[in-house]
Amino acid sequence: MLIKIVKTSDCHEPDVTPESLYLSRRNLLGATVAGLAVGALPGWASAEDAGRYPDVESGKPPAWFIEKLPATQWGAMTVKDEAITPFKDATHYNNFYEFGTDKGDPAANAGALKTEPWSVVVDGEVGKPGRYALEDFMKPYQLEERIYRLRCVEAWSMVIPWIGFPISALLKQVEPTSKAKFIRFETLQDPQSMPGQRSGFALIDWPYIEGLRLDEAMNPLAILAVGMYGRELPNQNGAPLRLVVPWKYGFKSIKSIVRISLVSEQPKTTWQSIAADEYGFYANVNPTVDHPRWTQARERRLPNSLFKPNVRDTQMFNGYSEEVASLYTGLDLRKNY
Ligand code: MTE
Repeated sequence: MLIKIVKTSDCHEPDVTPESLYLSRRNLLGATVAGLAVGALPGWASAEDAGRYPDVESGKPPAWFIEKLPATQWGAMTVKDEAITPFKDATHYNNFYEFGTDKGDPAANAGALKTEPWSVVVDGEVGKPGRYALEDFMKPYQLEERIYRLRCVEAWSMVIPWIGFPISALLKQVEPTSKAKFIRFETLQDPQSMPGQRSGFALIDWPYIEGLRLDEAMNPLAILAVGMYGRELPNQNGAPLRLVVPWKYGFKSIKSIVRISLVSEQPKTTWQSIAADEYGFYANVNPTVDHPRWTQARERRLPNSLFKPNVRDTQMFNGYSEEVASLYTGLDLRKNY
């Protein structure tokens, strides 16, 4: 199902796209009409896909992904007046503790992750449980590009163009029972390819677990992403399937998902298990509720440097209040952080 959300956070393409990119995209589209040979472009891309984000390195995505791209609804939702983060920053400043704790570790180490073949288990309180090869799992869904802010609990942020589909579409397929109240997500556990899972010093009791209330998961903003910047997800960003919930701190956006379970009880999530007083189940972006060790009122927008700190005010629900505030009516957000 296609969902077009028209909200104040919507805008026109030039508002979010760096001008040079926007112009080069227009030029490329013009060239396509004039008969540009697709063969001149990276092997996997159509002319239009390649022109969308020209700073992106080429890759070799699986056939199912390429087949789905032409029907993708590009720019289905965007953010206003904020430039897209350069691909290089989005792919080299990461948190993916399975590959190490430094920001550069995921890019350096995630190449060993084997994302093909990949299967996803859907189980728990559903009418249609099953284990699906990723390409079969993806078949029913129309892909959309969603350009969202990503705000990490560590107070840095980016703007990322994701490709994915609403979780509500998945829930419609798998038919949750009346007992299903939460959705629980689990990351791959594979110590052979994930050095963080072999480390004796890891704080995390693997696998990484995240969860949402069912009504949060049904919100049209919540997506499962399979791509970013017009291509498949790089491993360090959570290939081949990750959660994206833009009104919540980044740690909710669990990567490399292998299991999706509908459950009746609130799942125990990874960061909550490590430090419940610092990281809550809700993890809604909230500039008025500080982390015990730092303020959440402001954030560093990447890329930044000592001379260009690029600090900005953090917005309630990361700027998505209009879409999600009603989910929390009557809930004390100070207690339910
Ligand atoms: N998912 C798994 N499996 N392991 C992780 O360590 N880190 C989380 C989240 N998803 C993490 C994860 C955190 S803390 C953040 S901020 C985001 O991924 C970062 O996503 P990015 O690296 O694509 O920016």
